[in-house]
Parts: sequence; C-alpha cells; structure tokens
Amino acid sequence: MEEIELRIRQLRLGDYEAMIALWERAGLSHRPEGRDSRAAIAAQMERDPELFLGAFNRERLLGTLIASDDGRKGWMNRLAVDPEHRGQGIAKRLIAEAERRLRGRGRRIIAVLVEDWNSASLALFQSCGYALDRSILYLSKRDDPAV
Ligand SMILES: CC(C)(COP(=O)(O)OP(=O)(O)OC[C@H]1O[C@@H](n2cnc3c(N)ncnc32)[C@H](O)[C@@H]1OP(=O)(O)O)[C@@H](O)C(=O)NCCC(=O)NCCS
Repeated sequence: MEEIELRIRQLRLGDYEAMIALWERAGLSHRPEGRDSRAAIAAQMERDPELFLGAFNRERLLGTLIASDDGRKGWMNRLAVDPEHRGQGIAKRLIAEAERRLRGRGRRIIAVLVEDWNSASLALFQSCGYALDRSILYLSKRDDPAV
C-alpha cells in the first residue's frame, strides 16, 4: 500500500469540489441544493472557519469533518473517509481534532447524529468515548425537503 503522509488542515472554499467528490465516493448523504450548496458552505465557513476539517495526503483529500457549535453543544457533521483509506484511523484523527477545537470554544458536550443502520459510524463514535442514548428520537421541521 502507498505510504500516506496524513495532514489535517482547515478546509477552504477552494476545496469545495474535492469535498463533494469525496462525499460521493464515500456514499455520504448530503444536501447539495441545501445546506451543502457552495453558497451555504461559504457562509458557514465564514462564520466558523476553524470547524471545517480536511485530512489530506499531500493535496489529495481523504477525509472530512464539519463541526458546528450552537453555543450550547458542539456537533460532528459530514464525517467521511475515502473508501480506499478506511481502517487507518483517519476518522479518529478528525474527531480528535474537532473535539480539541470545540473544547477550545468552551463546549463541554459534543454530540453526533448517526443513522440507525450505520454500524461502522456507531462503533467509531463509541470507540471514541461517545455514549449512545437510545431514549432520544430525532425530530426536525424543514422549510423545504432539500435544505
Ligand atoms: C465511518 C467512517 C467515517 C470511519 O472512517 P475510518 O477512517 O475508516 O475509521 P477509523 O479507521 O478512524 O476507525 C476507528 C475505529 O472505529 C471503529 N470502526 C470504524 N469503521 C468500522 C467498521 N466498518 N466496522 C466496525 N467498527 C468500525 C473501530 O473501532 C475502529 O478502530 P479499529 O480500527 O482499531 O478497530 C467511514 O467508514 C465512512 O466514511 N463511512 C461512510 C460515511 C459515514 O457513514 N460517515 C459517518 C456519518 S455519521
């Protein structure tokens, strides 16, 4: 297997196309017409640039994580790793870096929503110390199905 020199850095708007391409390769569901549109990502990046993380091997994007901070909790979103580079700890490194940044902003609770079929993601977050709360149901109100 090729030698990887993994580096985590903030994603910039110039990484947008690579980020969408990675999510497609990774089979990560996302909302290109809604909160993942270029304009929506640009606005979020302007507010919280430090919360957009990319894992790179030289210039090749292998992993992403977009953290968010609602002022009460930190959240992990859009975690994806290139299918050819899974099982090498890339997701764990992205999570650790996002946690460090969220803690630096004073967040003491960090949460993630995981779809019930996603056993890899569930195992990953549990291995990183996240406790599963089965008593919570997720409800949302959407202005539009694409958002
Ligand atoms: C979930 C995902 C991000 C994991 O990325 P990864 O870089 O392969 O994960 P890591 O190598 O950091 O794994 C760390 C730990 O998570 C757990 N884990 C990761 N993938 C797993 C799998 N397929 N099955 C079981 N446990 C898994 C293991 O405990 C692993 O530790 P180990 O390698 O020592 O056993 C990746 O599979 C992915 O991109 N999936 C598609 C997108 C997705 O589902 N994103 C999450 C949305 S909430």
